[in-house]
Amino acid sequence: MTTTLVRARTLSFSRAPLSMDDTGAYRYESDGALLVADGIILASGPYAAVRENAPADVIEIDHRPHLIVPGFIDTHVHFPQMQVIGSYAANLLEWLNTYTFPEECRFVETAHAQRIAGHFYDEMIRHGTTTAVAYCSVHKTSADAYFAEALKRNMRTVGGKVMMDRNAPQGLLDTAEMGYDETRAVIADWHGKGRNHVAITPRFAITSTPEQMSAAQALAREFPDLHIQTHLSENRDEIDFTCSLYPEAADYTDIYVRYGLLGPKSLFGHCIHLSEREMDAMSEAGAIAVHCPTSNLFLGSGLFPLKALMRREKPVRVSVATDVGGGTSYSMLKTMDEAYKIQQLLGERLNPFDSYYHMTLGNAEALSLAHKIGTLDAGTDADFIVLNMAATPAMALKAEVVNSLAEELFLLQTMGDDRVVVETYVAGIASKSGLRS
Ligand code: GUN
Ligand code: ZN
Repeated sequence: MTTTLVRARTLSFSRAPLSMDDTGAYRYESDGALLVADGIILASGPYAAVRENAPADVIEIDHRPHLIVPGFIDTHVHFPQMQVIGSYAANLLEWLNTYTFPEECRFVETAHAQRIAGHFYDEMIRHGTTTAVAYCSVHKTSADAYFAEALKRNMRTVGGKVMMDRNAPQGLLDTAEMGYDETRAVIADWHGKGRNHVAITPRFAITSTPEQMSAAQALAREFPDLHIQTHLSENRDEIDFTCSLYPEAADYTDIYVRYGLLGPKSLFGHCIHLSEREMDAMSEAGAIAVHCPTSNLFLGSGLFPLKALMRREKPVRVSVATDVGGGTSYSMLKTMDEAYKIQQLLGERLNPFDSYYHMTLGNAEALSLAHKIGTLDAGTDADFIVLNMAATPAMALKAEVVNSLAEELFLLQTMGDDRVVVETYVAGIASKSGLRS
């Protein structure tokens, strides 16, 4: 067994920061190290202490002066939309019908799904994302390609075959029964294999008949530990159309409640326009509102009230995500840059420690996976990344006047993207440097 000692400055959170000055929320080592073997972090802390307890033949890698943080987690992304990103549309429904649905039809072909799955994980690694939560297409073959590629790379991943049986092109429709059977087959084939997690994935209420929503409910009952992912309250026209399809429901959220889909493993993409009643329902169920800032701005969907949701008397759990291809970047740093600007427009402050908490431990907590990912704690997966705040000439110039960790984090977030990611370690293996260029 090879044991590796990775030396750099290190930063890892133990809880959500209460303020910019809340140093108790994280651990920062100006000369830190991780001891890694068999894909697991065996020890972390000050270099001298970790080195002392390492085996004599340990292999040492020195990333100083760079900063190690846990690998980023992207809690909502569409892997079949890699060739949809950057498509010019007025709004969500036009974008879906004009570009997204036709593109997803191509994933009926195994070779295409496999090719894009390879590119997908390449981009995740390039951008420092070590766990993604993805929608595949309606075709089982797309989920097979998605999970096979993760298994090959030993990445922890969450994903689901999309269930959709109406309001889309014929080539993108299953039926209530097929959605149920094929999701069950994906679970049987992939869940728990390697580091794979299967999510029950009805796309959204517009593209599922009541019969299919009942099928999703049956799956949720049979597999209560699985994640559930769908979309909720993204766009005003979407909300009106959805509510017209389910007139018996009190509101959009109530549709998912009626089909037993609201719970602590449920991830709802967007949640921009929720009423107070809907926020209460989300809070009481412990469901997650997934903020996708670059997508919300690109599609003109609206401004997500991140801070307001978190500080309610009945707080709503939140996570952050790219939502590629509605989102415009694979980078979680770019994502938080836009999240910051949205909070600015809402008169709120999102400080740099908030941002790094959300991209790492916060997203891990949202997935109920904080015992595995999202920190540098001993016993967790060795998924971590190395960041360089002086990766470009313009960043290096600004870095000359950076005087604190907070300023460094904020520079990385504001100007950074894949170029600042020096290395991405997946289960202890340096994976970015091994990518085909
Ligand atoms: N709502 C239903 N499907 C989608 C999708 O693919 N992207 C976004 N942004 N919203 C959706
Ligand atoms: Zn989405």
